[in-house]
Amino acid sequence: MRQHDFDDFDLFDQQPSRRRTSRRARFDDEPEPTRGGRLTEGERVRLAKLRDDAYTETQLPDGADRWSTWDDAEHGPLPRPDWVVTELAAVDTDLGVLKTGKEADVHLLRRGLPGTDGVLLAAKRYRSDEHKLFHRDAGYLEGRRMRRSREMRAIEHRTSFGRNLIAEQWAVAEFAALSRLWTLGAPVPYPVQRSGTELLLEFLGEDDGTAAPRLAQVRPDPDELKDLWFQATAALELLASEGLAHGDLSAYNLLVHRGRLMVIDLPQVVDVVANPGGVEFLARDVRNLAGWFHGRGLGEHVTNTGELLAELVSAAGLT
Ligand SMILES: Nc1ncnc2c1ncn2[C@@H]1O[C@H](COP(=O)(O)OP(=O)(O)O)[C@@H](O)[C@H]1O
Ligand SMILES: [Mg+2]
Repeated sequence: MRQHDFDDFDLFDQQPSRRRTSRRARFDDEPEPTRGGRLTEGERVRLAKLRDDAYTETQLPDGADRWSTWDDAEHGPLPRPDWVVTELAAVDTDLGVLKTGKEADVHLLRRGLPGTDGVLLAAKRYRSDEHKLFHRDAGYLEGRRMRRSREMRAIEHRTSFGRNLIAEQWAVAEFAALSRLWTLGAPVPYPVQRSGTELLLEFLGEDDGTAAPRLAQVRPDPDELKDLWFQATAALELLASEGLAHGDLSAYNLLVHRGRLMVIDLPQVVDVVANPGGVEFLARDVRNLAGWFHGRGLGEHVTNTGELLAELVSAAGLT
């Protein structure tokens, strides 16, 4: 362990309140100044960016909320759909909330060059407060124990900086899952970009901003119901063939967009091969899904959940 790690630790043990105050004052992604008071390289870059932002913000066109964040973000997989707006001169306009939740808020966003219609996007923003611990935190902490002890302590002590890191891990995990599944051709929205705790996704809905309904909200006739069931099982089989279970599958995390069933909300996707409880995750997805379809009147001879689970287990290579 490096010397300054010990220094911080002693300070925390002996003077917790003083340490907490000084941590809070240096909130979030601000790099710490060097002990000698000189600016670190990170700090210099941050100040230069603040100056740039102060200059450009005065020029934002009317109605826009920010310049496009494309340049600084992690980008979605290639080949990129042609509707993705990559121009640096584009602006983002917040058109309102699609849903607020405990762990994330989803907003409708328009991105485009000033004076054009642009495209609609769903902006999913993970909240830093009240967030449950990211399920892979343990591994994350292990691997970085020596190098990233500041992050580790911030997460352990749930400082505002630490909570923000946890929220960002959820965003990173969901972006990775969506990117992988989109590349495989799974019915998921195209993940346009991720920056910090925010994901920008293909908006599933109409041009007027009406979002596609959740499966839970639709009243399909018997033929549509059967069709939606087979779409859902096809999606589950594709996931299973990649060794994955959704992990939180329900009629709220499936949208029906122009007759197509789309899978969303994937930060907790489960690697069923590495996870000792893998089969149980597959079984739970099947149970939740079939439960909803049975409630809508689909016969159990159609869903045949025993056979479906056996197929998923075999597709995942678990037999
Ligand atoms: N790409 C999208 N297009 C349209 N609506 C979306 C999209 N992503 C999310 N939503 C809406 O936001 C809601 C919450 O999104 P979700 O990813 O399930 O987050 P949460 O973790 O809050 O459940 C969804 O039920 C859906 O109504
Ligand atoms: Mg959800």
